[in-house]
Amino acid sequence: MTVSTSTYVESPAGPIEPGELQHLKSPPEIDLPRGLQVLRFGQRQAEFLLAARRSFGDVFRIRGIIPGRPTITSHPDHVKSLFTAKPELVPSLTGESPLRPIVGAGSVLTAQGARHLRQRKLLLPFFHGRAIDAYSSIIEEAIEQEIDRWRVGETISMAKAMQDVTLQVIMAGIFGIDGAPATGSAEARLARTTRWITGLSTTRAAKFAEYMALGNAEPVGGQRLALAQLDRPIYEVIRQRRAASDLAQRGDIMSVLLTAPTEDGVPLSDRELRDELITLLLAGHETTANSLAWAFERLTRNPLAYERLEASVREDAADIEEQIEWVVLETMRSRPVVPIVGRRVQVPWRLGEYGVAAGTPISISIVLLHHREDLYPEPWEFRPERWAGRKPGTYEWIPFGGGTRRCLGAPLAQLEMRLVLEHVVRRVRLAADRPESEHVQHRNVTMIPRRGARVKVLEKL
Ligand code: HEM
Repeated sequence: MTVSTSTYVESPAGPIEPGELQHLKSPPEIDLPRGLQVLRFGQRQAEFLLAARRSFGDVFRIRGIIPGRPTITSHPDHVKSLFTAKPELVPSLTGESPLRPIVGAGSVLTAQGARHLRQRKLLLPFFHGRAIDAYSSIIEEAIEQEIDRWRVGETISMAKAMQDVTLQVIMAGIFGIDGAPATGSAEARLARTTRWITGLSTTRAAKFAEYMALGNAEPVGGQRLALAQLDRPIYEVIRQRRAASDLAQRGDIMSVLLTAPTEDGVPLSDRELRDELITLLLAGHETTANSLAWAFERLTRNPLAYERLEASVREDAADIEEQIEWVVLETMRSRPVVPIVGRRVQVPWRLGEYGVAAGTPISISIVLLHHREDLYPEPWEFRPERWAGRKPGTYEWIPFGGGTRRCLGAPLAQLEMRLVLEHVVRRVRLAADRPESEHVQHRNVTMIPRRGARVKVLEKL
């Protein structure tokens, strides 16, 4: 039986006529200098926004990098109004976010309107339905090889270990490679450079480079230099694939992108292909790797939850799928790797007692929504069993965003999480290297475990 435990008070939201705006209040503003707000948002987003919600309620304005004083909300009815609106009324803010200089303008993440929908349609079949089943054996092989490398007594960073697995999986999907890319190939160089760049991105220098690039459409400074390193193997792969004679027979994403017809009949340019590939490569593995890293960080800090999962998996109990699913749901609720998503409304919008003008950026704080007492009692507790008999609500559990911008890779990411959790818990027992929970680190648009989810390998079967 599925029960609803939501008890929140309804709040009207959605597009309104310009005349209605004058009858509604403007959202309250955080009264701090812009620079300080940008810093707090970039370093301690959850604390910063929680404090504002305590002072102002569900809706308030901040000053940040996105022009137009973004309004933040975390009410499920407001979320619903944005996710169910016509796409042309609520273009995504990703094209103005710190992702823009990295993935470029030609990516499905940053494109808008008809171009965005066409790109989504092209890519969707690769990440849904039967196409996903084909990934199972790739994921299982990759995680088994990873576990084989772990030694009892050693301390490992789960974020790094999981990255090796998820990178292999997404590269297999994009390039149609079976297993790890061949040594010396352009794909292998691409994988190596991707690992190097994501390793770099957690350093202080990278954070500085990220701040320098804020608000720019193109990368600058250190970010530009690092991305140039990544572009080299990407363009090399594109060149080689363009010359391949078997494109029409291959079913991988790269081959389909290379041969896909466009509305004006002109094939995608190298730059457009680069933007699309870098999006799939980065969005497709870093998020999943860090979500898995958080799962192990949380499990090793919550022995009851860990033991319950372990018992179910190791005994192949009847509730094994359910137990794994609850851990996935609870991990993504309590540590959403992407903590915020946004839209720029094209008409005046109502958010409860407040109204905002056309052109206002509205951001949904996923982390605030996921920590509402009225949706999730004792929200700071990691309690997988809270999902017993409960389905994740479309506007209440949104680690993958929603509407026509909902994450394309969600089914793949969830499959990866389920399979990796099962294999690791079955074969290995892990413990936290330190008892205290890991803090959050904000990197670009993601929220990751600050020390990389470090765990000690206690036992291996
Ligand atoms: C745990 C893992 C993941 C998380 C938490 C995540 C989260 C997100 C979020 C929050 C968005 C923005 C949604 C919105 O604005 O409403 C997004 C978009 C996207 N994600 Fe993911 N993602 C994950 C894994 C993946 C994977 C495996 C892929 C595979 C390629 C992927 C590809 C994409 C793409 C292409 C978009 C852009 C969709 C669009 O704008 O139409 N993601 N993701």
